[in-house]
Amino acid sequence: MDVNQIKRILVVGAGNMGHQISLACALAGFKTNCCDSSKTQLKKAEAFVQSYLPGRVAKGKLTEEAAKAAAKNLRFYSNLEEAAAEADFVIEAVTEKLDLKREVFKQLDRLCPKHAILATNSSFFVSSLLARVTERPGQVCNMHFFNPALVMKCVEVVQGPHTSAETAAAAMALAKKLGKVPVLLHKEIYGFLVNRILARITEEALFLLDTGVASAEDIDSAVVNALGHPMGPFRLMDLTGIDLSYHISMERYRRTGDPKDKPSPTVVEKYVKGEWGRKTGRGFYRYDDDK
Ligand SMILES: NC(=O)c1ccc[n+]([C@@H]2O[C@H](COP(=O)([O-])OP(=O)(O)OC[C@H]3O[C@@H](n4cnc5c(N)ncnc54)[C@H](O)[C@@H]3O)[C@@H](O)[C@H]2O)c1
Repeated sequence: MDVNQIKRILVVGAGNMGHQISLACALAGFKTNCCDSSKTQLKKAEAFVQSYLPGRVAKGKLTEEAAKAAAKNLRFYSNLEEAAAEADFVIEAVTEKLDLKREVFKQLDRLCPKHAILATNSSFFVSSLLARVTERPGQVCNMHFFNPALVMKCVEVVQGPHTSAETAAAAMALAKKLGKVPVLLHKEIYGFLVNRILARITEEALFLLDTGVASAEDIDSAVVNALGHPMGPFRLMDLTGIDLSYHISMERYRRTGDPKDKPSPTVVEKYVKGEWGRKTGRGFYRYDDDK
């Protein structure tokens, strides 16, 4: 499909990533349907949009007209059938669980128009794990955004062995239309580019914390002030969600059976306590005042 044929985008999942990907699409002029099975999550996403757009206008970053147009472009749904009916391009951003994603892809394949491309924003699952439950494997690929999706420029597009060149090209072109700087992976590889590199850093940071070498604050400070990263690995985990870190490590452990791949003791403790980072008000840091 040519990128110019993409008029309506469906984003499935209105969580951490989905609500911002939806708004990025709406701001770029696409009719955008954002669908989540949780009404609470949809309300949160709508509230975000209602405060984000006027905030950008007040800061002079967006015109009043552009804000109005974006708000008009974006609709929220709890019913996937309604949301999927006219989609040309789908970005799936539901919880990082393979069975759930497979189920969602099965439904999307049934509900979306035949020409629609189905992309997953999964952080780790390659799209061949999802393509095989659909009747349109050539139109399935990874399109991996970074958090916060409205800000971060990188998008990793992964062309699986099943993905047609046309689909990969459309995903790359769409990312550019969203104002992103996409990179194309010609092969599927667990963790893609960025998360493979980040995983090595995070793993070492957790080892240094778990063995009492330094505090989370000092490890973050060293990474920021010596390596020039905008934030350290612990603040980043708070932002992306410690529950996500837990699920990713568990998934890797299930795959490899290697105890080294189990989540670190600190991550397990925080996961069990429900201290998942910013989204729960507490992770490695506290977010009492939402800052
Ligand atoms: N958090 C990050 O920093 C980050 C970055 C890049 C990619 N990702 C990926 O994006 C995806 C979403 O991550 P997130 O952090 O936004 O998770 P999240 O937990 O914040 O949001 C997931 C959303 O999916 C919804 N959901 C679950 N089942 C659903 C269904 N059947 N239909 C519709 N909605 C459903 C949940 O209600 C929830 O709102 C994951 O695949 C993750 O790996 C996350």
